[in-house]
Amino acid sequence: MVGARPNFMKVAPLVAELERRADTFETVLVHTGQHYDDGMSAVFLQELGVPDPDFDLGVGSGSHAAQTARVMEELEPVLVETAPHAVFVAGDVNSTLGAALTAVKLEIPVGHIEAGLRSFDRSMPEEINRVVTDAVSDMLFVHSPEAVDNLLREGAEPEGVHLVGNTMIDTLVAMRTRIEAAGTRERLGLRRGGYVVVTLHRPSLVDGPLLADAMAALGVVARELTVVFPVHPRTRAALSARGISVHGGVELLEPLGYLDFMSLVVDSAGVITDSGGIQEETTFLGIPCFTLRANTERPVTCTVGTNTLLGLAPERIADVPQLLAETQTDGARIPELWDGAAAQRIVDVLARRLG
Ligand code: UD1
Repeated sequence: MVGARPNFMKVAPLVAELERRADTFETVLVHTGQHYDDGMSAVFLQELGVPDPDFDLGVGSGSHAAQTARVMEELEPVLVETAPHAVFVAGDVNSTLGAALTAVKLEIPVGHIEAGLRSFDRSMPEEINRVVTDAVSDMLFVHSPEAVDNLLREGAEPEGVHLVGNTMIDTLVAMRTRIEAAGTRERLGLRRGGYVVVTLHRPSLVDGPLLADAMAALGVVARELTVVFPVHPRTRAALSARGISVHGGVELLEPLGYLDFMSLVVDSAGVITDSGGIQEETTFLGIPCFTLRANTERPVTCTVGTNTLLGLAPERIADVPQLLAETQTDGARIPELWDGAAAQRIVDVLARRLG
């Protein structure tokens, strides 16, 4: 099951691995349609070589309850019709939760990719999605040791917890050559290491007064470094609804596909973000990342990797040029098992489990 932008990178390697073992596994791909713009969905499936979904549920946008309920209503008949031996969901979006609940109520085992992450902040919709999805999943696929601890503390059965590595990094490893050949920086006329990439889309930051503060602080950064900001539709709508002005040195772009986005990151001086997955991708690439959140469900990116938590404090964006000058990424490492082979380990677990 896939539904929203970050799902595609996490699920693509699993689909590829299941297809490699097509003598054993038949795969049915369901897209909930939570994200539906070409730039938020189709471009990723196409670039990552994911086959067209067998079912597109057309769920679209809505309140949390409406979106999750629509996933459940639309997915149930598909699961009844296809009667799978297992359903795989990834990450923490509303589609993940809706699909996991639907499957478990039909007594279909659920595999959760990226299980066990916790921000311990229940005001985040994703935290609720993570906690509930993990609670109803049979196979908990984990990518860092603290996530194992979180699950065991919540009472998960140890035999259901599998430390397999990071499928989002599988995608990065598989796509590395194409990312390096994409030439996005050159196309945009940017100097290597002369710009920062920005992504902001969390409701806590963009749906309230903090967005104007963030844009003003980006204007301060733009005096020293070009600021390149591919804008999520939620953020685009908030900027226009509030009439927020954008400093001349801040280049707003439409959402980018996977290759263009990662290509820009690889050549950047650093990244300013409130995303989850980007904290991991920058850690793998050794690119400094500054995260505009009070907490992270991915602490390994701070303790081992290149991530710095700035807090939910947009004014701190203005410190980024100084922080970049002080940042030493030499000591940063890639977490264990972030090696490009997580999906193989997941399918090995599945094969054992299904006998
Ligand atoms: C969702 C996830 C979030 C993830 C993010 C990545 C939940 C609760 N949130 O947030 O965890 O980090 O995806 O992007 O699942 N929209 C479009 N076109 C689209 C999709 C959305 O214009 O293809 C607009 C709509 O106005 C919509 C808004 O974006 O109302 C928000 O979309 P939604 O899927 O509700 O949440 P995201 O903010 O994208």
